[in-house]
Amino acid sequence: MLQKISETRVGALIALILVCVSFGGMVEIFPMVFEQTKTPPVPGLAPYTAVQLEGRDIYIREGCTVCHTQMVRTLASESARYGHYSVAGEDVYEHPFLWGSKRTGPDLARIGGRYSNEWHRAHLMDPRSVVPVSNMPAYSWLFENTLDGADTAKKMEVLRTLGVPYTDADIAGAKDAVAGTLEAEALIAYLQSLGTEMQNYDDGVMQ
Ligand code: HEC
Repeated sequence: MLQKISETRVGALIALILVCVSFGGMVEIFPMVFEQTKTPPVPGLAPYTAVQLEGRDIYIREGCTVCHTQMVRTLASESARYGHYSVAGEDVYEHPFLWGSKRTGPDLARIGGRYSNEWHRAHLMDPRSVVPVSNMPAYSWLFENTLDGADTAKKMEVLRTLGVPYTDADIAGAKDAVAGTLEAEALIAYLQSLGTEMQNYDDGVMQ
């Protein structure tokens, strides 16, 4: 009978098609509404501290992404140089992500802990003092400006609405944690955090 109706009345056919198609849609859409996230964070991934978060904003402001990627590709040569290739779970708290696409300098996704803070200070002040052939610009003004932390709490609140698990205490203490920090020190704190949670990461795929 259903067949007869659908073949003789075009309106009924359209309605039946819509019912069928909407089942397909529901099967795909409903689980996504109830899942918290499709990509779980990698073990040990922590949101940036207030100082690291400000350092990240300096990284963006100074255009470090123009010359540096934060994306280790799935090639043996890349893993040999930088470490484990990038995985989605590293980036769940990144808003926006800073993968970049152009490498004038090396990838920085695994730079945390690779050099001392002292090395980074010398390198940012005058890259040629530690890497004679470097063509990276000097960022000496980062050693003159200090942060006041006026906007840090607000930034963390916004990130929390995007799913970054900042606590009320993190947000309440943000201004005091940041105020008076030299821009260079905040940037270095950020750099030193990059990829540290990946040092013991093993998804069983990489050789
Ligand atoms: C014009 C391109 C350019 C820009 C912009 C740039 N860099 Fe570099 N960077 C380089 C090059 C080239 C190197 C490799 C030589 C060296 O170590 O100085 C490098 C190296 C580095 C290294 C060492 C990486 C390693 O694995 O040895 C760090 C850390 C770094 N840059 C951080 C930064 C930060 C932070 C900024 C922004 C404040 C920045 N860079 C902006 C070109 C750039």
